Amino acid sequence: MSRTVPADSSKPLKRVTTRTLRRMRDEGRAISMLTAYDFPTAEVLDESGIDVLLVGDSLAMVVQGHETTLSATLDQMVYHAEMVGRAARRAMVVVDLPFPEGQLEICRSVESSARILKETNCHAVKLEGGADQAQRIEQIVTAGIPVMAHVGLRPQNVHVQGGYRIERDLESLVADAVAAEQAGAFAVLIECVPVDVGKAITESVSVPTIGIGAGPHVNGQVLVTHDLIGFHSGYLPKFVRQYANVRQSVLEAAIAYRQSIDRGEFPGEKESFQ
Ligand code: KIV
Repeated sequence: MSRTVPADSSKPLKRVTTRTLRRMRDEGRAISMLTAYDFPTAEVLDESGIDVLLVGDSLAMVVQGHETTLSATLDQMVYHAEMVGRAARRAMVVVDLPFPEGQLEICRSVESSARILKETNCHAVKLEGGADQAQRIEQIVTAGIPVMAHVGLRPQNVHVQGGYRIERDLESLVADAVAAEQAGAFAVLIECVPVDVGKAITESVSVPTIGIGAGPHVNGQVLVTHDLIGFHSGYLPKFVRQYANVRQSVLEAAIAYRQSIDRGEFPGEKESFQ
């Protein structure tokens, strides 16, 4: 099977790093981030100029079809991250620490984070939590592993939260982000909070903030790629803007293929060896 090679594949691309993201924030340039779980998706998103690729534990939902992110395992994250890390030439690649790698003993989190960097060629991990995770963030960063903190709605806490919603006040959400920055996080992802909370957090920290359902007053935006391109039949949160309907295109292509087989039209002369 042939594979297309990007036109400028001979030219080394300048990798997006934690410093790049900090500079973008300081210069008021917006950061773009999307999830990726496999080689071809990572390759095309990288080519599009997306700054950060996230190998999210959302793969448990949008790739594996589970109801929550909880079933994603460290082995699975490493498996997917290795493909994404190999495909991305410019983007920084961040990998979720899956449940419960970020909840058990801190040394286990450090070990799991180190395994991710060592085996996948990716650049950082993402950890759900703020003030309650400050010590863990500090230890992982001390081990030389950049950490993106994930505050606001925390999908790994779905059962504690009683669903995908949070009832927390602005002060405690800001305190989470501040504690994460003080512990050494290079960026803070903020999920599903009102616009004023996204703004208050962004004004309270000096590291980049990346929002998902956190309004426009943050330093960057992230979405789950399968939501963005319409590649599943499940629920779409209010904060998603859908830019394509890939599921419909795949459905139409598969129906057309099946019908051409039914009619005896495939394979034709062009697709056959003489
Ligand atoms: O796993 C994931 O996709 C996430 C989203 C919030 C971007 O963490």
